[in-house]
Amino acid sequence: MIKASEIYKRFSTVEALSGVSLEVAKGEIVAIVGASGAGKSTLLQILGTLMPADSGSVQIAGTEVGTLSERQLAAFRNKHIGFVFQFHHLLPEFTAVENVMMPALIGGMDKGEAAKRAAELLDMVGLANRVSHKPVEMSGGEQQRVAIARALVCRPSVVLADEPTGNLDSTNRDEIQRLLMDVRERFDQTILMVTHDMSLAESVDRKIVMSDGRVL
Ligand SMILES: Nc1ncnc2c1ncn2[C@@H]1O[C@H](COP(=O)(O)OP(=O)(O)OP(=O)(O)O)[C@@H](O)[C@H]1O
Ligand SMILES: [Mg+2]
Repeated sequence: MIKASEIYKRFSTVEALSGVSLEVAKGEIVAIVGASGAGKSTLLQILGTLMPADSGSVQIAGTEVGTLSERQLAAFRNKHIGFVFQFHHLLPEFTAVENVMMPALIGGMDKGEAAKRAAELLDMVGLANRVSHKPVEMSGGEQQRVAIARALVCRPSVVLADEPTGNLDSTNRDEIQRLLMDVRERFDQTILMVTHDMSLAESVDRKIVMSDGRVL
């Protein structure tokens, strides 16, 4: 589902990525680990088509993303990539169910269908009784579960998560960890995450260790 070859990325004097190659198979959960500044978030952003590489190729679900225009990329991201970040980036003025529906509506899904799917996903993440709450009315762990539901609503080819448990206490960390495993069981979901959470990194199928812009 993800195939990256020889990715290079430089920010002025910093070579953030120095020839990174990796592959992730369908249904695999893979964690990228490594010291601060190793290039993990940069790599995730490039794989998520949020930032172009200087050179190298990225294929997501068989599509060479470098060949897509900005407009095509936006549609591609909506359909194929679900994002979960450390700070959940929920829209503050919308309720949980509206936040989860949003990518589906942007993707052109019928409103009734989007609402149904969002309600099912919120139920799955244990928030059936929080659908009408706004982000400020939810705990950090609850907000992160909404963000996971939102990432899944378009049934993406891959979920990319940057420190999905980074901001949470140990109880909520364990819960998000269980939830990610559950998501894979149910949907055969491919998940690539960056994490400093050793318990989470030990629970996945495979770890990729990065150092100084390279995969070790
Ligand atoms: N927009 C930018 N402009 C300049 N330098 C950048 C930029 N983004 C990242 N860098 C540099 O690139 C390197 C890799 O950064 P990156 O954010 O990918 O690290 P990371 O592995 O995610 O670290 P952390 O674990 O602290 O999140 C760092 O040295 C960082 O300072
Ligand atoms: Mg980072």
